[in-house]
Amino acid sequence: MNSKLVTGFIFMGVLVFPALGLSSETGPAEIDLKARFHIEGKKEAVIFPHATHQKTLECISCHADPKGGKLKVAIVNISGSGNDFHKKLCWPCHEEKQVPKGKSCSTCHKK
Ligand code: HEC
Ligand code: HEC
Ligand code: HEC
Repeated sequence: MNSKLVTGFIFMGVLVFPALGLSSETGPAEIDLKARFHIEGKKEAVIFPHATHQKTLECISCHADPKGGKLKVAIVNISGSGNDFHKKLCWPCHEEKQVPKGKSCSTCHKK
């Protein structure tokens, strides 16, 4: 095969495959965690801004695998203020990164 053609194919691969991967594997831009985890408490639902987090963080900050998939922490306790989202996932990182109002209820729980 002539070398221009080969280079052309490689170039196409580089452009096309990440584009396909991104559109199918990054998941939803926003996720209603209350609905997804079938949580029945009275607190307003958390509509998690997934895309916002993906802009500045690696997937493995939250997922077990660098490409996404299951979360790196097991979410077992989902009731009350001691729930695993607060204790194991959302709050520890907001503390570490000093997210402004990162532990204020209304930052995450919205009507
Ligand atoms: C960084 C995000 C975040 C902050 C800040 C936050 N929560 Fe949550 N909270 C969640 C997530 C995620 C869930 C589970 C999903 C859901 O219930 O929508 C949850 C669930 C809960 C639950 C259990 C579900 C229910 O409806 O009873 C309670 C109670 C709760 N939070 C209270 C609070 C209170 C009180 C504050 C402020 C002190 C607070 N949360 C701040 C993310 C947060
Ligand atoms: C700040 C935490 C966080 C980061 C960073 C993050 N995610 Fe997520 N992601 C979540 C949460 C929380 C869920 C919803 C919980 C679930 O579906 O198990 C989720 C759900 C998903 C889903 C949907 C899973 C399903 O079954 O529908 C995919 C796909 C995904 N993430 C891929 C990624 C990829 C790829 C990256 C990196 C580019 C990434 N995520 C970065 C927290 C994060
Ligand atoms: C690994 C670190 C990390 C984890 C885990 C994490 N966050 Fe965040 N979060 C951040 C950072 C950093 C910001 C500041 C975003 C920015 O301005 O780029 C942020 C900001 C936010 C904001 C404000 C977004 C805005 O538009 O101002 C919400 C809401 C939020 N997080 C909810 C959550 C919830 C709910 C969870 C748990 C399901 C969670 N976060 C888990 C790092 C994290």
